[in-house]
Amino acid sequence: MCGIVGYVGKKQSAEIIRDGLCRLEYRGYDSAGIAAVSGGVIDVRRSVGKLHLLTELLKTKPLAGTTGIGHTRWATHGKPSEENAHPHTDCSGKIVVVHNGIIENYQELKKSLSDAGHRFKSETDTEVIAHLVEKEYHGDLLAAVKSALKQVRGAYALGIICADEPFRIIAARQDAPLIVGVGDGENFIASDVPALLPYTRSMIFLMEGDFVDLTPTAVTVYDRSGAVVKRVPETITWNAVQAEKGGYKHFMLKEIFEQPQTIQDTFRGRLYPDDGEICLDGVQFNAQLISSLSKIYIVACGTSYHAGLVGKFLFENLAGIPTEVDIASEFRYRDPVLDETCLTIVISQSGETADTLAALRLAKQRKSPVLGICNAVGSTVSREADHVLYTHCGPEIGVASTKAFTGQLTAIYLLALDLANRRKRIDKSVFKQLLTEFWKVPLGIQEILKKSDDIEALAKEYFHNKDFLFLGRNLNYPIALEGALKLKEISYIHAEGYAAGEMKHGPIALIDENMPIMVIATQGKVYDKIVSNIEEAKARGGTIIAIATEGDTAIKTKSRHQIYVPPVNELFSPILNVIPLQLFAYYVAVSLGCDVDQPRNLAKSVTVE
Ligand code: F6R
Repeated sequence: MCGIVGYVGKKQSAEIIRDGLCRLEYRGYDSAGIAAVSGGVIDVRRSVGKLHLLTELLKTKPLAGTTGIGHTRWATHGKPSEENAHPHTDCSGKIVVVHNGIIENYQELKKSLSDAGHRFKSETDTEVIAHLVEKEYHGDLLAAVKSALKQVRGAYALGIICADEPFRIIAARQDAPLIVGVGDGENFIASDVPALLPYTRSMIFLMEGDFVDLTPTAVTVYDRSGAVVKRVPETITWNAVQAEKGGYKHFMLKEIFEQPQTIQDTFRGRLYPDDGEICLDGVQFNAQLISSLSKIYIVACGTSYHAGLVGKFLFENLAGIPTEVDIASEFRYRDPVLDETCLTIVISQSGETADTLAALRLAKQRKSPVLGICNAVGSTVSREADHVLYTHCGPEIGVASTKAFTGQLTAIYLLALDLANRRKRIDKSVFKQLLTEFWKVPLGIQEILKKSDDIEALAKEYFHNKDFLFLGRNLNYPIALEGALKLKEISYIHAEGYAAGEMKHGPIALIDENMPIMVIATQGKVYDKIVSNIEEAKARGGTIIAIATEGDTAIKTKSRHQIYVPPVNELFSPILNVIPLQLFAYYVAVSLGCDVDQPRNLAKSVTVE
């Protein structure tokens, strides 16, 4: 899950690559490095830690050359250190490589290369590629890379340069994301779109097994068989400002506040409350499949998995389709019963999560039609799934997912409502009424965001606590899980999410006066039940912070603090109730001085198993 940027053109490459890497830092930030070719010699600058350290290094030791490659790393093989930072070089220093992915057979390759006299300088799997290319090099870098990669097993997105061919980059992808930016007299490679937005909007999304030969004036793509293939560039319409912080202290806060807009973006062209219609572009289920669906499997990781858990309620209750939700890393190894009557839905913001992709491929192998719910346009999930429902949230830079989560929920609601309607499980007038209520959800979020100062004050009161419990029931049980995940991942505070009714079967033993308990207690059919659970927790000394529906004064006698959310049809309550939990986690992390956008040990896109 590292980030790669490459440039070949007329300008000095180092600054363009450094700038692009800054926009990819969310993909990993253990170390960074850049290599550039000048006068037939390749020079490399690397530093451990975040990119500003590389920026400082480049000020004191500038790097010349109009062709270069760079990398920001999230360690897989070998600790974060300067020796393990990319780019990696061969013995001669003439061949230089940046890599995202994992070379599975690197140990055997390393042994045979070492036996043949190659000297290794790092503990990484990547370095074997530099030496393999060196071994295969006879004056043509493309031919050498092709021969080298025939010997490699694993996942890679690669950028490779050679001192003897100073105006050329060779790139390749297999099971790791890589795009080509097409410019005027200059061309680029990158792991992701935001890196290149200031330079070009014309981008080629490479396919698995592709190789690319880039010079300042040409981009030639070869497929895995070696044949030249035409990959038509797509024009990216994202606003470059979307990828900036836009006045907020952190990307995460900006992304939380963007949610009224991003949910409308997910609605756009799909939700027509006045006509009582939903039109889902990218989803072409035929009538036969819709009526014969025996089961839905939802597969995802982390926050996307929590969105899937909400989906289970919706597909079962609205559309009447039995639904199972699986963590992708479990699904792929548990031999699920799948056939052409089961729909598999994979949910992934990045569309590149290795376990989710493996689950997708397993489902396809077993003939299950696959729908991807994705944010990243052109990502691997979106290309391999049979149907794609984009969330259209724009780039999510904060490592902790916020707007992508509500975008995923929105997409799932649209799909469940559409299936319910098309399977005639729902009365037309009820359907229309639900669409009208759904349409108003962004307004409800706007109201909650106005309370951010109160939530910040609450966070300041509780940020010293060492443990938190999050409770919810029914549709809001997954939201309790998500609230706990948000808090732990950005503030490093221990937090557990639980189904409130399950509390008395174990976790209640944890409760004492040092345990704040965030309870989702908005109006709905389990309201009385959750109030009983609040009483149980209070009786053990727990401090209750209730997420409650405006107008619920009774809850004041049951809880120490209340965060009120606007009344909404219970069905849509998860989309509203998660907002105060995102804000609470954010302000706790800020109060603790944590690095909110780039929490330790995490990466935005988990492209390794
Ligand atoms: C948490 C978070 C992760 C991701 C997970 C899946 O805030 O962002 O738990 O949800 O790594 O990522 P995607 O959705 O890209 O497959």
